[in-house]
Amino acid sequence: MCGIIAYVGKREVRPILIDGLSRLEYRGYDSAGVATLTDGDMEVTKKAGRITELARHVAQRKRPTSIGISHTRWATHGEPNDVNAHPHTDQSGRLALVHNGVIENYQLLKRQMTAAGHTFKSATDTEVLAHLIGKYYDEVETLGDEKLLEAVRRALREVKGTYGIAVLHQDHPGLIIGARRGSPLVLGIGDGEMFICSDATTLLPYTQKVVYLKDFDLVQIRESNFKLETLAEGESSYEIKELDYAAEAAERGDFAHFMLKEIYEQPLTIENAVRGRLNIEECSAQLGGLNLTPQQLREIDRIIILGCGTALHAGMVGSHMLEDMAFIPTQTDYASEFRYKNCPVPKNTLFFVISQSGETADTLGALREARRKGFRGLGICNNVGSTIARESDGGVYMHAGPEIGVAATKSFVSQCAIFGLLTLVLGRMRHMSAGTGRQIIEAFEKLPNQITQILANDEHIEAIARKYCHAKSMLFLGREYNYPVALEAALKMKEISYIHAAGFPTAELKHGVIALIDSETPSVFICPQDILHEKNISNMQEVRARKGPIIAVATEGDEEIHHHADDIIYVPRTMDMLQPILNIIPLQLLAYHAAVALGRDVDKPRNLAKSVTVE
Ligand code: AGP
Repeated sequence: MCGIIAYVGKREVRPILIDGLSRLEYRGYDSAGVATLTDGDMEVTKKAGRITELARHVAQRKRPTSIGISHTRWATHGEPNDVNAHPHTDQSGRLALVHNGVIENYQLLKRQMTAAGHTFKSATDTEVLAHLIGKYYDEVETLGDEKLLEAVRRALREVKGTYGIAVLHQDHPGLIIGARRGSPLVLGIGDGEMFICSDATTLLPYTQKVVYLKDFDLVQIRESNFKLETLAEGESSYEIKELDYAAEAAERGDFAHFMLKEIYEQPLTIENAVRGRLNIEECSAQLGGLNLTPQQLREIDRIIILGCGTALHAGMVGSHMLEDMAFIPTQTDYASEFRYKNCPVPKNTLFFVISQSGETADTLGALREARRKGFRGLGICNNVGSTIARESDGGVYMHAGPEIGVAATKSFVSQCAIFGLLTLVLGRMRHMSAGTGRQIIEAFEKLPNQITQILANDEHIEAIARKYCHAKSMLFLGREYNYPVALEAALKMKEISYIHAAGFPTAELKHGVIALIDSETPSVFICPQDILHEKNISNMQEVRARKGPIIAVATEGDEEIHHHADDIIYVPRTMDMLQPILNIIPLQLLAYHAAVALGRDVDKPRNLAKSVTVE
C-alpha cells in the first residue's frame, strides 16, 4: 500500500527520495510525490503513474536541498491523479504532509474547516489532516520547533483512524516530524543523517540502524539527532535494532523480476527457516520464541490459525499437519472473517496469526481480537519488529529475507516449513514416535536439494505456461495437504497473469465444478503418489472424457500418469506433510511464466499492494 520516505542530512535529498520511492514501489501504488525545502521555499512535485514520471519532473528542480518527504500513494479516498497524490499542504502552503492510513472522521473535520474558510484542492482525507495541523499551528502560542510539535500533537489527538505520517514545515527548515498509529513507520539512524520510512528494507542502502516506532510515537528528526515521545506520556522508550540482512538482499540482481529471484531463493529459504531449530538427538525441534513452557504446550487442546491470502493457505497446510501428525484439533479462518465472528472458542486454545509483512490490518485486527478475549496469540512473521511480531505473545520468525515481489512465494514455503517444525515440537510432546520425528527431520534435510531439482526443470514448465497462457480460465485441484496448494497456485495464477483461476478439492469436481470443463479450460491436478492417487486418476479421467486439457504435478517416476495427462511436471517425493513445499514450486513458475508470456507487470500486478495495511 502507500509508502513513505523522508530524509534530513547533508546529501542532496532528491535522489535519495526517488531511490527510496523506487524501493517502495513493490508495495503497490498509483501516484507519487516529493516535497522539499529549498532556500526556505516549499517545493512540491507530484504525479499520477510511475515513479519514473515523477523522477523526470523532480529532475527539473535544480536548487540544492537536503531535507524532504515523499510518498507513494495507493488510492483509498479520491481517484489516483496528480491532485490527490501526496504530499498535501495546509491552508498556508507552508506545511507539507505525507500520510499512510485512513482518517475516518475527515468529512466532519473538512466541513468544520470549510466553514471556517479553508479551501481544499483534493478529495483526500490526508489534505484534511494537513489543514488541521496548519490550523493548530496558527493557534499555538509556543515558540520554535515546539510550536509545530504541539500543532501535530493536537491534530493527531483529534483524528480518528490510522496514520503513519511525515511533516515538513517551511518555518522549521531542519526538522521533520513523524508519527504513527496503525500504519508502520521506522526511524532510520545514519551518520549525520536521519530517515523516516514506512519500510525498513528500503533503508538498507543507507543504514542498518533502525527504531520501529510504536503506535502513538511521535518522532522529531534533525540532521544529527532524533527525539522520540509518545502522544500520551511524553518520552517514549525505544530500542535501536540492526537490520540483519545485506542491502543486496533487497536487490533484483540478474533476475528479470523479484518474483523469479524469490522463487529461486527457496532452497535457501528452507535452510533459513530450519537452521538451528532441528533437534536431532530428541527427534524433535526447538522454537525458542514461543514463550510457552513444555507444560503449557502440552495443555493446548485446540489451535486456531488466522491469516490472509497466501499466509492463510500456508496456515491450512499447517492445520493439516497439526491434526494429522500432532493430533491437535486445528481450525483455520480468514483473519478478516474471524475478527467479526462471534465464534465460541474453548479454553486452552492457542492462536497463531501468520503474516509475511507483519503489518496486514486484517490479521493484526484478528490478533488483537483473540488477545482481547484473553487468549494467547502467537505470530509467524518475516519482518522483524513488525507490528504483529511486537503485539503477539511470542512466535516464530521466518528469516526469509525481504520478499519484494507482490506475489508471495518464498514466504509460503517458509511458513509451511515453520508449521512442520511446530508439528514436530507439539507432536513429540504427544503421540509422535521418535522414529516419525526422525523421519521428518531427514525429510527436512533433503528439501533444499529437492527444490533445486525442481527449479532445474524451469524450461519445461515455461513451455507448458506458454502453451496454456491464453486460456480464459484455469482450475487447480488437490486433495488433503494439496488442497491448499491448489488454492495457492490459483491465487498466484490470477494475481499476476489476470487469468481467472480457482482452486478446489479434487473430489469436489463432480459436485459442480465439472460444469466448467471444456476443451479450452485447463485443469492442473496435483496428484502425488500417495494413498489417494487412484482416486485422483479417476477424477482426471472424468475431465478427459469431457475433453478438458490436463496438466499433472506428479511424483517423479510415475510413468502411468502419461496415460492420463497432456502435460506432466515431475516433483520429487517427500513425506506427505512436506509435499506442499515441493508441489507449489512448479506452480509458482507456471504462474510466473504465464504472466511474462502475457506481458504482465509481474512484480507490480494491477490493483494489488504487497502489504495491505487497511481493512
Ligand atoms: C499473495 O501473493 C498476496 N500478495 C497476498 O495474498 C498476501 O499473502 C496477503 O495479503 C497476506 O500478506 P501478509 O503475509 O503480509 O500478511
